[in-house]
Amino acid sequence: MTEKLKENEVWLLSFYRTSEISGALFFGKLCKSLRPGPIQHDMTKHFSDEAVHSWLWTDCIDRMGAKPLKLADAYQDQYLAVAGMPANMMEILALTHVFEKRVIRQYALHSRVPDLHTEIHSTLSKIMDDEKWHLSWVHDALAKMEPEYGKDYIEQTIKKFWDADQEVYKRTMKEHEERVRDLGILTPEPTSGI
Ligand SMILES: [Fe+2]
Ligand SMILES: [Fe+2]
Repeated sequence: MTEKLKENEVWLLSFYRTSEISGALFFGKLCKSLRPGPIQHDMTKHFSDEAVHSWLWTDCIDRMGAKPLKLADAYQDQYLAVAGMPANMMEILALTHVFEKRVIRQYALHSRVPDLHTEIHSTLSKIMDDEKWHLSWVHDALAKMEPEYGKDYIEQTIKKFWDADQEVYKRTMKEHEERVRDLGILTPEPTSGI
């Protein structure tokens, strides 16, 4: 252990850990029922990545001499309450596209904190490579669905979840934002979810 984590950092890293666990469980359950094919292949890698990320945050917190906090619902649990349960695989991927963008944005902001602990910086870097691939495979899978659903309808669906993301962020992320600001991370309003 090099430096002690601040209370807000323990909260934020625990928040990331909880969110990664929720992601792993969500995709892991889905993977059990998918037919063999490219989506089954990529989503299985995706769920195993999110499980590894939850371990990386657990280990990062531990190596810095702290203990993960037990937090309530993860951010993405709130999406379903606002936007409703996705009705098919296209909707699941549209929601995932929006959520992965939110995650990458948040991790990128955090990695720019001045004098960030090296443990946190290296954990963020490792995870962000995977998160970029998550966005990329989901983007490609949605593009392949265009003949079936139509490009416009897919974009409308992403917009629906983008609006839900904004709503959830406003409703439930006040505490998160305050803690992030305390660490010197600015959270500008994102401009587009597509
Ligand atoms: Fe992740
Ligand atoms: Fe991800």
